[in-house]
Amino acid sequence: MTPEHELQAHFERTIARDQRIEPRDWMPADYRKSVLRQTAQHAHSEIIGMQPEGAWITRAPSLRRKAILLAKVQDEAGHGLYLYSAAETLGADRAELTDKLISGAQKYSSIFNYPTLTFADVGVIGWLVDGAAICNQVPLCRSSYGPYARAMIRICKEESFHQRQGYELLMTMMRGTPEQRRMVQDATDRWWWPSLMMFGPPDADSPNTERSMAWKIKRHTNDELRQRFVDMTVPQAGALGVALPDPELRWNAERGHHDFGEIDWDEFKRVVSGDGPCNAERVEHRRAAHEEGAWVREAAAAHAAKREEVAAA
Ligand SMILES: [Fe+2]
Ligand SMILES: [Fe+2]
Repeated sequence: MTPEHELQAHFERTIARDQRIEPRDWMPADYRKSVLRQTAQHAHSEIIGMQPEGAWITRAPSLRRKAILLAKVQDEAGHGLYLYSAAETLGADRAELTDKLISGAQKYSSIFNYPTLTFADVGVIGWLVDGAAICNQVPLCRSSYGPYARAMIRICKEESFHQRQGYELLMTMMRGTPEQRRMVQDATDRWWWPSLMMFGPPDADSPNTERSMAWKIKRHTNDELRQRFVDMTVPQAGALGVALPDPELRWNAERGHHDFGEIDWDEFKRVVSGDGPCNAERVEHRRAAHEEGAWVREAAAAHAAKREEVAAA
């Protein structure tokens, strides 16, 4: 065998044995590209995901809710940082990743292009959006790329706190006034379908799924995860006392799963390709924050250079 073939064989064996690929290991160029695409997109989603809820920090109804929301949004920033670090182990440059986000060359989850109209949206995002994220991410703790899998372990622990805080907020509102209950139902109606879209296109239309599965970067297909999320969420909606806005949603005893209605894939495509209700606003906000933060990056770099100088002397 040529050295190249030996490396390839070693890589395949590592994957077959369910062991991890580490940054020092040889990996096929396409594997590197796939993991990088996924981690970068995931990192961008965490960072952009701070905006819809961040908008409510100054308007939270109590100090307690403000402290909880602040902690949650800060966690999302942390998730972005772990994931950018994982992307850097694949040779990506952090500044370039930010440029690609701001220029629209790289995508983030379509869910964050919807507006948060009332405080009930904060609860529903925790319940449904963080809930869907958990469904997606728990299996990624066993992803074949080591740094990605390890980042996911910590992220999932925090996501489960996010999900519970959302659910607890909604429970509190459901015990409140009729108007508060209406707000929860309205937010559920708006976020349900976009949450189902978070799992990505149907398997038949997902060009990357097959290879990502073969390489064990992903462990389940989009449709499998979406089904798992629906089955998990239906009883939670029941306990909460809200209706899920899908007349076709019902238990199918034969399949042992819930059937549900057709997702509006045209809407999904529109939002992914930049034409959702808040795409321009989200990216513009990120760009402004990046530009306003330039002095911090410059100061940190100058400080590091000075310390190096002192250490050298
Ligand atoms: Fe997160
Ligand atoms: Fe979260």
